[in-house]
Amino acid sequence: MLFMDKLQILEEIAGEVKTCPKCRLAETRLNAVPGEGSISARIMFIGEAPGENEDKTGRPFVGQAGKFLNGLLEKAGIPREDVFISNIVKCRPPGNRVPLPDEVEACSDYLMAQIAIIEPKIVVPLGASSLKTLLGKDRKITQDRCKVFRKSGILYIPLYHPAAALHNPKMVETLQADVLILKELINREIGEDEITDLQSVHIPAEKKVAPEKTDEEPPQTLTLF
Ligand code: URA
Ligand code: SF4
Repeated sequence: MLFMDKLQILEEIAGEVKTCPKCRLAETRLNAVPGEGSISARIMFIGEAPGENEDKTGRPFVGQAGKFLNGLLEKAGIPREDVFISNIVKCRPPGNRVPLPDEVEACSDYLMAQIAIIEPKIVVPLGASSLKTLLGKDRKITQDRCKVFRKSGILYIPLYHPAAALHNPKMVETLQADVLILKELINREIGEDEITDLQSVHIPAEKKVAPEKTDEEPPQTLTLF
């Protein structure tokens, strides 16, 4: 697919997500969070659902879990702006509860479309919800983390969710070790040179409501949907 066609379709998906009425989460969200990153990303990271900061800003992984994820990416030498980051559901569940099955189902077309357009070589499900949605409900993150699954021409390498480490020093260590394993697997499977894509094109943000400033302003070059 042509580069500009990809860009246009991803923008259209983001536009639909921003006004999506398809499940009850539409009633309580401030901003839907379509996802952000490079449209030519070789790697996608897929979390569970937006939290409070994501709901306020319309961007994925910008709160505490996001800061920890940024540190993990840095540790692994994976530039955040060269990957694509999204979630299983695009709107915040009230009180950050786990998304319900019908919400995941209602939202899944968007993620499947994003994956189909971006055509990543590697998808990294973050945490149990993402793993179960992407690879089957019987999967267990404790057993499947850092394993490589091949499905429809894509490699899936699950990791624990970064939020799991926020109040758990053991989990910090585990995730810091796991992300280095992830990097090894990436190097083995697609080659280190392919991670950074100099062709990356980024899309400017279109945000409806931003009641509060976040303490972390997005870098100028970062893609925002
Ligand atoms: N947790 C997630 O799963 N996704 C986000 O975007 C932020 C926190
Ligand atoms: Fe639509 Fe997904 Fe938001 Fe539900 S969570 S309203 S399906 S974008």
